[in-house]
Formats: sequence, C-alpha cells, structure tokens
Amino acid sequence: MKNYLSIQDLGNLQQGVQEALTLKANPYAFENLGKRKTICLLFFNNSLRTRLSTQKAAQHLGMDVMVMNFGNEGWQLEFEHGVVMDAGKAEHIKEAAQVVSQYCDIIAIRAFASLEDKEKDEKEEVLQGFVKYAHIPVVNMESSTAHPLQALADAITIQEHKKMERPKVVLSWAPHPRALPHAVANSFVEMMKLQDAEFVITNPEGYDLNPKITEGCQIVHDQQSALKNANFVYVKNWSSYSNYGQVLHVDKSWKMTKEKLGQAHFMHCLPVRRNMVMEDAVLDSDQSLVIEQANNRTFAAQLVLKRILEVF
Ligand code: CP
Repeated sequence: MKNYLSIQDLGNLQQGVQEALTLKANPYAFENLGKRKTICLLFFNNSLRTRLSTQKAAQHLGMDVMVMNFGNEGWQLEFEHGVVMDAGKAEHIKEAAQVVSQYCDIIAIRAFASLEDKEKDEKEEVLQGFVKYAHIPVVNMESSTAHPLQALADAITIQEHKKMERPKVVLSWAPHPRALPHAVANSFVEMMKLQDAEFVITNPEGYDLNPKITEGCQIVHDQQSALKNANFVYVKNWSSYSNYGQVLHVDKSWKMTKEKLGQAHFMHCLPVRRNMVMEDAVLDSDQSLVIEQANNRTFAAQLVLKRILEVF
C-alpha cells in the first residue's frame, strides 16, 4: 500500500480486519519491520486517541516516531500557487512537504474541515498537498472528509462483537452544540458499504450526508423506525451538508437513550459530550463499545503501517 487516504485503500476489508485481529493477538510479531524507519505525525487539530494509538502502533512495529502540533507550532502554510506571500502565511506546502519527507519515511496528517467552504474542504488541500509534494507515503489521521483509521477500528470492533453473519447496523445523527465535520460519518458509511450487513442511516431532514457517499444506502428520517431490531447503533453528530457547515437545529429528541438503544451495542468514535449526544446510562452500560473502539485504533493503525512498510 502506498498511501492510506480512505478505507478503500485497504483493498479487501474482511482480510484487513482479520489481519488486524491477528496483530491484536500478537502486537510485537513484526517488531523489526519498522526498525530504522521513522513516522512523522503532523497535527493541524487536536487529538487524544489518534495521536496516542498511532504512536503506539508505530512502536509495536519498531518505528521511531516524531510528533508535531503543526497547527500551533508550525509556520502557517500557503496552498495557492503564484500568489505573493505578503500576508500571514510564511511557508508554502511545496517546500514544507519536501522538507518533512527528508526527515522521515511516512507522514501522517490530521487536518479537519474548515466547514466554511465546501469546495475547498472537498479539495483536501492539506492532505492532498502532502500527497502531491511529499515523496513518501501519507496516512490520513482525519482529513476534511474522511477518517479511515477510525472506520477501520470500527470494522474491527463490529467483527469482534457481531453474533450473526448479517447484523443490522444503524448510523444515527445526534444533537450537538457545535458544528462538527462529516469525516467520521463519511468513512463509517464507506466502510459499511464494504460490509455484509443491513445498514441504515438515520438523521433529521436537512442533515443528509453527501449523496455521493451515501449512494445506495437506506436513509430514514424517523429515528424510532430506523432503530428497530438494530444490533449496533453508531451515534455521531455532523453539521448540515446541504447548508454546508451549519447547525440547523439541535433537536435534543435525537439524543440516544437506553430505551431507544434496546439490546443493541452502542458505538461512538469519542470524544463525546455526555447527556448531549447520549445519556450517561448508555455510555456507562455494558452495551457500550466505545473503549474497545478506542483500543482498536491501535491495531487499525498498526495494520496500515505494516502494509506500507511491507512495500518499502
Ligand atoms: N476518534 C478520534 O479520532 O479521537 P481523537 O480526535 O481524540 O484523536
């Protein structure tokens, strides 16, 4: 694998999940694969899980790790070409990506959507800027439109907990006080399209995700009917896609409750706002898989790094 920018880059998802579970059973099985190789993790936005799990994954493979909070500590980057750089942006992506490429063997990037300009966000200028100008592999640690490491961890978690060949999995929108990006939901949808499952997306009117991503998926605007007989309920907020980046309303009736969850497993990528997105009783119940999802982030990242290292 050259780059990991979307869940599709993995190839066969089921094979990937099985390989990740093998790594989970024996995390140090390939402890020399990354010896004398360095990964540089560049964060343009905050993180807890992605930062620590990717670092741990690299360490399991014997890699050295460099971490930089680029958003706070790096020079502000220019992405346009031919501009006179006489304002706040001190460095062009062209030089920055080539320079970083000399210090490491893999670059991993986190750069969220601005939620101000759909076209610009969908161009993925940070991630694609590094892909274009770096001469080493690039891993997406959550970009404007995708969070494929999270989706792979979610696939691993579903595999570990499913009790039937074809479970019912529901992605349910949840209320949130702030405008959040679509990346987690997009990648979860893309991952579910590769699964043998009954998959339903439920969200209020006005919150439909990018139709190119949800093409072929069942979208139900009545949460109660969508949740019927669910085996897994993945709860996530996202801002409007059609009214790009807007919070149209914070309908608290969409909050996940123990009653609505029924017997299903509860999933969320974290971080999550208690009693806003779901009630405490959901998160604190045995049905919650959120801590396991976070643990599986390590093995998702380890699989991705292993696949990249294997083609060096
Ligand atoms: N789920 C996830 O990506 O968590 P962080 O934002 O803390 O990395």
